[in-house]
Amino acid sequence: MLGDLKGRVAIVTGGASGIGVGICKALAEQGAAVVVADLNEQGAAATAKRLAGDGAKASAVGVDVTKRDSIEGMVAGTLRKHKQVDILVNDAGIIGAPGWWEREHDSDEDWQKVFEVNVRGLVMCSQAVTPHMLERGYGKQVNIASIAARRGGEVPSYCASKAAVVNWTQSQAARLALHHVNVNAICPGLLWTPMFEKLADRYSSHSVRKAYRGKRGRELFEYMVQEWIPMKREQTPEDIGKLAAFLASDDAKNITGQAFNVDGGIYMN
Ligand SMILES: NC(=O)c1ccc[n+]([C@@H]2O[C@H](COP(=O)([O-])OP(=O)(O)OC[C@H]3O[C@@H](n4cnc5c(N)ncnc54)[C@H](O)[C@@H]3O)[C@@H](O)[C@H]2O)c1
Repeated sequence: MLGDLKGRVAIVTGGASGIGVGICKALAEQGAAVVVADLNEQGAAATAKRLAGDGAKASAVGVDVTKRDSIEGMVAGTLRKHKQVDILVNDAGIIGAPGWWEREHDSDEDWQKVFEVNVRGLVMCSQAVTPHMLERGYGKQVNIASIAARRGGEVPSYCASKAAVVNWTQSQAARLALHHVNVNAICPGLLWTPMFEKLADRYSSHSVRKAYRGKRGRELFEYMVQEWIPMKREQTPEDIGKLAAFLASDDAKNITGQAFNVDGGIYMN
């Protein structure tokens, strides 16, 4: 089976919602035991329950990726339970501080919060599993960036944070290569998740593109899909999950330091 993960143990941050659910599902389908980690503990438990209902090994843990203690607790708990961590998928992310979707421009708090979660949080999660991976000479780290990393846009703090994720992926991949730890990033395109619902609210009121103003929710999302995506179809959490599972497997053992667009052809780099 391509992307076989039998006997592997994976931690997925952001596993309570949207893309994270698709990633947990794909890893579980390939045979990994999945630790679903999220600030939203109830949501993480719901994902784990769903996976277990499908016959997978899954458990949930509450984590705040902005708190080193909380991350260390997540990793220590996983090691107690499973004795190993083979895979870390860093999916947890935000677009801004609470209420960002109502603001025309990113506030100081947005800049601070988005870098705290998307960059510093992701880096701290990687740092927490890396010593264990180095010790075993084995590990896979997959970072969820965004096509926003490819070009600046209307939410500059978010775009800059995702560009930082791609750059960090390269640094970490270079540092860990000799130890056979692979580090890659995925840049998802447009996915209709709770995060995008809020983005549609912001664009609907504040976009510099006049055509977006007044269109709401799903209607605006579908308009953007047609405008942006050469293949004229939206991406799904399953699309991202399948690539994450492949990158987390030994079939991708010679792939490291890369960032893959899953965007129906928006960016071709
Ligand atoms: N939806 C899209 O179109 C899209 C496109 C490109 C990239 N992305 C990226 O994909 C990832 C998932 O996005 P989504 O659309 O599924 O969003 P989402 O809001 O549905 O899910 C994000 C998850 O991250 C969790 N989270 C937020 N802050 C956290 C923290 N401090 N600690 C732990 N967990 C935390 C949330 O509780 C939530 O479950 C994000 O990194 C996002 O930037 C999304």
